[in-house]
Amino acid sequence: MKCVDDFRLRFGKRELVPIMIGGMGVDISTAELALEAARLGGIGHISDAMLPTVTDKRYKTKFVSEKQKQYKLNILETDKTIVKFDLEQVAEASRLHVRSTMDAKRGDGMVFINCMEKLTMNAPRETLRTRMLTALDEGIDGITLAAGLHLGSFAMMQDHPRFHDAKLGIIVSSVRALQLFLRKNVKTNRLPDYIVVEGPLAGGHLGFGMDWAQYDLRTITAEVIQFLKNEQLDIPVIPAGGIFTGSDAVSYLETGSSAVQVATRFTVAEECGIPKKIQQEYFKASEEDIEVNTLSPTGYPMRMIKGCPAIGSGIRPNCEAFGYVLDGNGRCGYIDAYNRVVAENPDAKKFSVPDKTCLCTHMRNYDLWTCGHYAYRLKDTSHRNEDGSYQLLTAEHIFLDYQFSKDNKIALPAKK
Ligand SMILES: Cc1cc2nc3c(=O)[nH]c(=O)nc-3n(C[C@H](O)[C@H](O)[C@H](O)COP(=O)(O)O)c2cc1C
Repeated sequence: MKCVDDFRLRFGKRELVPIMIGGMGVDISTAELALEAARLGGIGHISDAMLPTVTDKRYKTKFVSEKQKQYKLNILETDKTIVKFDLEQVAEASRLHVRSTMDAKRGDGMVFINCMEKLTMNAPRETLRTRMLTALDEGIDGITLAAGLHLGSFAMMQDHPRFHDAKLGIIVSSVRALQLFLRKNVKTNRLPDYIVVEGPLAGGHLGFGMDWAQYDLRTITAEVIQFLKNEQLDIPVIPAGGIFTGSDAVSYLETGSSAVQVATRFTVAEECGIPKKIQQEYFKASEEDIEVNTLSPTGYPMRMIKGCPAIGSGIRPNCEAFGYVLDGNGRCGYIDAYNRVVAENPDAKKFSVPDKTCLCTHMRNYDLWTCGHYAYRLKDTSHRNEDGSYQLLTAEHIFLDYQFSKDNKIALPAKK
């Protein structure tokens, strides 16, 4: 019987442990988590979601308050079109985060950045280009373009001196999305270095409609592998979504995948950015506590733990401070939903907005508890303490469990 360690992910001559920790915004896949994956010979992701907000917390910048001050006269306005990001500040935030992460990197693995193309920031092309080029400037090993793929992303980077040296990958949820990307990308004369195939059981936003349950990762992965074979393209395929044990991973590696991308098991790692109290909610979640809903203003379904404060919250949109989801016309589905409820309840001081949620504020405050489908199995990966709480795990423990476990077993940590 094989384990993940019997396989390697190959990028040219370079060999890696075929385990990639997926990007988790906003600063849920922290530098500390990504660095552990790299130290252990795999690949970790930092996230570029809401970086100016993240650097305020991590590196004591003042980007959020400065932006809020600049646009304070707009706070009560329903029209957010004037609220723009200063591209130099966006670049500075990326510079700080990527540089300090790469400076701390040890070991034979790699650190990539997950680039959330849905974060349109009221200037989709300009902000995306700035984030990607800065990450390349600062020495990131690779960029993973997340679902919601901007088909022109590679072209935006093609004049960068590291365009061919950095690893560039894409996340797709269907062969069709992959075909579209490849067709659009022909002109850059550069193929992706890897393709993450994200299935319907993943955490975060899903690349499916609300009919997500009709799809399955195994089928889509097999279709992608077959398509690449037909086209005689040798690109590593990396399935993601619901790969919970080392044996799950092996079953993909034995059938043509080159690595796996995993995330949910690391939400209860000490190095993960989710506050400790909320990590306990992840441990405690039962299957019934997890839902896929349409609350995200991005228009993509998202999987969440039902009890999280973001669901039903009616907070005022705070685009002057954040505004990451504003589309190129300065609009966001939450603003419309919020304004509708305000118009219907003119005298109410507090109310609930049932159909959308304010992604920026809630992700920033860790009030939106997104998770993969199997989050309800996290309780089986650790010990329950006498007070009913669960023991957090180290990223190293989880990584090594994926790497060496056999027979669907999950190794429990040494008791603290
Ligand atoms: C808490 C959480 C946040 C996530 N955030 C992102 C994100 O910002 N961008 C992204 O591309 N994928 C995101 N994902 C998806 C993961 O990167 C990964 O592909 C997927 O969750 C793997 O499936 P698993 O969680 O079942 O292991 C997130 C997943 C989780 C659990």
